[in-house]
Amino acid sequence: MSTVVTDEKIPNNVNLSHDPRLQRALEQWQPNFRNWWLEMGPEGYHAQEVYLRTAISVTTDGWAHYDYVKMPDYRWGIFLADAVPDRRIGFGDSMGQPVWQDVPGEHRNTLRRLIVTQGDTEPASVEQQRVLGASCPSLYDLRNLFQVNVEEGRHLWAMVYLLHGFFGRDGREEADDLLARRSGNPDRPRILGAFNEPIDDWLSFFMFTMFTDRDGKYQLLALAESGFDPLSRTTRFMLTEEAHHMFVGETGIGRVVQRTIELMKKNPNGDVRAEGGVDLPTLQRYLSFWYTRSLDLFGGEISTNAASFFASGLKGRAKEEKFQDHLALEGFVPIAVPENGKLETKQVPMRTAMNEILRDGYVEDCQRGVDRWNKLLEAEGISTRLTLPSRRFNREQGIYAGHRFDPEGTPITEAAWAAKQADWLPSPADRAYVKSLQQRAVTKPGEVAHWIAPPAKGINALPLDFVYVRTDG
Ligand SMILES: [Fe+2]
Ligand SMILES: [Fe+2]
Repeated sequence: MSTVVTDEKIPNNVNLSHDPRLQRALEQWQPNFRNWWLEMGPEGYHAQEVYLRTAISVTTDGWAHYDYVKMPDYRWGIFLADAVPDRRIGFGDSMGQPVWQDVPGEHRNTLRRLIVTQGDTEPASVEQQRVLGASCPSLYDLRNLFQVNVEEGRHLWAMVYLLHGFFGRDGREEADDLLARRSGNPDRPRILGAFNEPIDDWLSFFMFTMFTDRDGKYQLLALAESGFDPLSRTTRFMLTEEAHHMFVGETGIGRVVQRTIELMKKNPNGDVRAEGGVDLPTLQRYLSFWYTRSLDLFGGEISTNAASFFASGLKGRAKEEKFQDHLALEGFVPIAVPENGKLETKQVPMRTAMNEILRDGYVEDCQRGVDRWNKLLEAEGISTRLTLPSRRFNREQGIYAGHRFDPEGTPITEAAWAAKQADWLPSPADRAYVKSLQQRAVTKPGEVAHWIAPPAKGINALPLDFVYVRTDG
């Protein structure tokens, strides 16, 4: 097992002090990261103490330490999951060969691109979420937001460690660029679409952590299979933290659903907006928006890039071991392809359909969360159900981009789309309404905003009225 060092400038379990060049390079990057945090991290919350968990080891029990910390002083560290002895590449053309501890020359550019693309999402989400402190529904939620933010910061460190450690000067330049791009900036945007969408209300935040962080889970699962062992080990540990982000999203939306049910019952006409809540149609529209933006992150349904990532052992399928055939040279995946306003089912060779296979697992995982929300509705005798729209609906990437489909996935005309769009996706009026519910930060310990139910339990077995963020200091 690797030794954890926490008393150096950069906490790590990668023997950083044994590689002075790398240590120096990362220590030079560190103040730039901190400056980025001060400029783009949570607005108005640099001086307050927040009750946060900090990763201090990679053992399953007790990997994190909980205490108050001011976020700019958070101890962002580099932690890799323990090496698997005699690990072998588990898929593709190099199946069965020992994993790589260094970057094979022929895969250098592709691997760097994969790492940069993953790395770019981490600071992007912090930037997207930076104004939410001003409208938090409770101290509990505020703390969870900041927990997610600091851990996305640590995920950036995880990717920057790989860039600095294995990609020389190119890697260092990429690491600098990760701090230079800005979410939503037209001149130097973040790489992927969903990470340039504004998140200025808490419903969007919960949808993002439910659906977009869950894309992150599937990308990390696929990279955890990588033949490049340092990438596999770093992503395996990132998944530990990622689970909490999705918990925040799923339970956040669950609490909104619960409150919405209460308000539906309270109002004689079932008018939730009249009671100051989020009505189910608005919830559905937010869900449809963030789910479809997140589907885009998996890339094209038919992709020669995905095929070559798999062939070369760089990126596998989520939980590769549960598949029978790790070569994937045989077999086809049926994919409905838009042609002349209709859908034609094509048999796509397995390797070329790898993005779609990863997306399949993601869709199933999302459905499990939606089912849990629907159980709340069912238990209260409400017939409306939340649904995931068809994966063809509202897409901006892949074969469905540029075509119009209704939420069931049926091709429709541009005119039909224009007529129904406001029923299917959040309108400016919806967004203004949701924001109107979140005009101030609720920061009294134990108090919760009107539009959302309290959480079932506190953080780390603490009571709900614990001071999760010391807002007075
Ligand atoms: Fe992350
Ligand atoms: Fe995350």
